[in-house]
Amino acid sequence: MMDCVIRAVRAEQDIEDILRIESVTFTRPWTREMYLSELEHHDVAFFYVARDPVGEAVGFCSWWLVLDEVHINNLAVLPEHRRAGVATQLLDRVLADGAARGAHRATLEVRRSNEPALKLYEKAGFRVAGVRRNYYSHPDEDALVLWRERSPMDRS
Ligand SMILES: CC(C)(COP(=O)(O)OP(=O)(O)OC[C@H]1O[C@@H](n2cnc3c(N)ncnc32)[C@H](O)[C@@H]1OP(=O)(O)O)[C@@H](O)C(=O)NCCC(=O)NCCS
Repeated sequence: MMDCVIRAVRAEQDIEDILRIESVTFTRPWTREMYLSELEHHDVAFFYVARDPVGEAVGFCSWWLVLDEVHINNLAVLPEHRRAGVATQLLDRVLADGAARGAHRATLEVRRSNEPALKLYEKAGFRVAGVRRNYYSHPDEDALVLWRERSPMDRS
């Protein structure tokens, strides 16, 4: 278990950390331009970066607050730091902060074959609620739509 420091980021230079993690993680990473345009929407778009004890960025989560819903857009941890609880800490923080801002539910999409992510989300109380056929490309794949209906503060 790694003890992370998790901070909401708002500055352009923090986006570089996110892009580095994106580039080793996703086949179709979000671009700098996409993130910069998101940064302008202070009231709905949020980015959290997890740092290890020496300050290296090891994971991030980007999410939207849509009315009373947390929409998780991206969540990733550097391969060499996985299975150390980083994603769990990020998710806990996002759900708690979302709840503090009035969210009652949380949702996300995940590739059907992404077992590590599905396990992580199930453990955090998310359940599969639907399928979007061929939602992803590179490679083509269905998305499972997950929802967490309980109050995000309630981890029991
Ligand atoms: C999915 C991902 C974010 C998990 O990050 P992580 O920091 O390793 O996750 P955690 O250490 O908090 O794991 C929490 C639990 O999730 C499950 N889990 C995580 N990785 C797993 C794996 N490879 N195989 C099986 N279960 C896994 C386990 O239940 C784990 O608890 P445990 O270690 O006590 O058994 C990480 O694998 C990743 O970045 N993957 C690529 C990007 C991605 O797929 N993001 C999600 C897209 S929506």
